[in-house]
Amino acid sequence: MKFLVCNTYEEASQEAAKIFEEQLRTKPSSVLGLATGSTPLGLYRELIRAYQLGGLDFSAVTTINLDEYYPIAPTHEQSYRYFMNENLFKHINVDPAKTFVPDGQAASPEDESVSYDERIKRLGGIDLQLLGIGENGHIGFNEPSDALRMDTHVEVLTESTRKANARFFQSIDEVPTHAITMGMAGIMTAKKILLLACGKNKHEVVKAMQDKTVTTQIPATLLKCHPDMTLICDRAAFEGR
Ligand code: F6R
Repeated sequence: MKFLVCNTYEEASQEAAKIFEEQLRTKPSSVLGLATGSTPLGLYRELIRAYQLGGLDFSAVTTINLDEYYPIAPTHEQSYRYFMNENLFKHINVDPAKTFVPDGQAASPEDESVSYDERIKRLGGIDLQLLGIGENGHIGFNEPSDALRMDTHVEVLTESTRKANARFFQSIDEVPTHAITMGMAGIMTAKKILLLACGKNKHEVVKAMQDKTVTTQIPATLLKCHPDMTLICDRAAFEGR
């Protein structure tokens, strides 16, 4: 694991953007695995800026997101599809038909999960997977558990995740109870992984990333086994203050 501690959130976002820029320079038709949440916002702003300055071209890129609440409409302001459109896609020259987010309105979320994995396979896997990290160590919505699922699946969100995400909704009761999430295999078979952890509330989990153990109770620790994984955090997450 490569580990980079940046002084600020902005610096962490810039370092993350450099990895994306390098990826697109090396392979303009990359399959980018993307995440939502507060953490990647700075990175997405950097990518938009690089695109606007003319240095970054997304025309050949395919994106595939980690997860989506279930059930939720794509027009709901808290849906991850809406988030991606608003915070990245509509500002860059990616082909909207080549941006994939699990369908939060699928009649059968189980069938949607199977098709999602088939899609990842058809795309030839993910070239660069971006991940945020839950305070409880979840990645995507793979929540701490004795056993983790490999495949894309429907996950029951833990109380702590719903509480952490309640800030985006009117009240915790509005936070969906389920999500469709890529599983550990979709994530771990990405050729390159970039994990971003910012803010002092991520301190415990950043600490857990630094020893030599892995546990399904902190799903992100499994990433330590990945051959090309970079963790970028800010000083607040590193020091916990
Ligand atoms: C989002 C996702 C989640 C978030 C995590 C951290 O697509 O998969 O695992 O990355 O919950 O969220 P923030 O960045 O809001 O702290």
